[in-house]
Amino acid sequence: MKTDHSKHQQTWVSNQWYVAAWDYEIDRTPLARTICNETIMLYRRFDRTIVALHDACPHRLLPLSMGIKEGDDIRCRYHGLLIDSHGVAKEMPLKNDTVNKRACVKTYHVVERHRLIWVWIGEQDKCDPDLIANFWPCSSEGWVFDGGYTPIACDYRLMIDNLMDLTHETYVHQNSIGQSELMETPINTRVEGNQVFVERWIPDIKAPPFWRDALKQDGKVDRWQICQFQIPNTIMIDVGVAPVGSGATLQKHDQGVRGFVIDAITPATKTTSHYFWGMARNFDLDDAGFTARFRKQQSGVFDEDVAVLEAQQRSIDANPNMKLKVFNIDEGGMKCRFIINKMIEGSPKQ
Ligand code: FES
Ligand SMILES: [Fe+2]
Repeated sequence: MKTDHSKHQQTWVSNQWYVAAWDYEIDRTPLARTICNETIMLYRRFDRTIVALHDACPHRLLPLSMGIKEGDDIRCRYHGLLIDSHGVAKEMPLKNDTVNKRACVKTYHVVERHRLIWVWIGEQDKCDPDLIANFWPCSSEGWVFDGGYTPIACDYRLMIDNLMDLTHETYVHQNSIGQSELMETPINTRVEGNQVFVERWIPDIKAPPFWRDALKQDGKVDRWQICQFQIPNTIMIDVGVAPVGSGATLQKHDQGVRGFVIDAITPATKTTSHYFWGMARNFDLDDAGFTARFRKQQSGVFDEDVAVLEAQQRSIDANPNMKLKVFNIDEGGMKCRFIINKMIEGSPKQ
């Protein structure tokens, strides 16, 4: 019988930053999250800096996230080993015992940027903050950004496929954001280094209701959608409309209203993921109500994707002898997978 070795291969790239949480999710109380098969817990010190530690007590492996916070330290809830926020043991279960300095916990490099918490997965001495995905609209003047978190029971690459092929909007989102013009407009796919772009320029159409309201006027518009994949797992989708004749082009389009749909799909295990999503926009900047309403609406749209992708994963698991087929619409996702696979070959195994 043939063995399927692909089942045992790592499906994500090591020595990369992965989003572990939103800034608003991390507080003094530890948050446990499995990232790329590693159990990690995160919390803030008094000075608000973030700690990311392996979530297993070095004694008998009880998750440390169940422990009791003592200042910036954490005491294991089983036998009371005290660990400081740098992962070093400070006090043994029997207080008079000499501290065993080998009883330490792995720490992870962690950076707070673009309202998200990024953890370095791989060799900690290779950590490079310059490699964090460039989510510039999430922390630039003239933009406002917010979003949410959805756990999803599928391989993170299925979500990348989904986001790099927006033709799915017509069917998956037929009751929310689907628009038939999308299917009629040709797409262009291109690769730039380790980035993949899928671009669509839709000239001279009636503005869909969301964009008409954002623009605050009726009339014909040019619309664009540019999906940008960045290694190892993020996608930004540049979307918006500008009145016809305003001079907006596929390359440069600051004339109308513009948003960036932000997605980071972090693998938890091979078949479960953490989906961090949001939207940065350059209009109605001070309208907090709009931000809240849009977040709710976006969450509803993504729930439609989650239902489809979890069913797809169950079907993949139930049909181990069937392979995924590639159609023209899959070009963007396939190019992302090609880059991911190439980098996995060159990256250290966890
Ligand atoms: S398991 Fe943590 S102190 Fe024993
Ligand atoms: Fe979708």
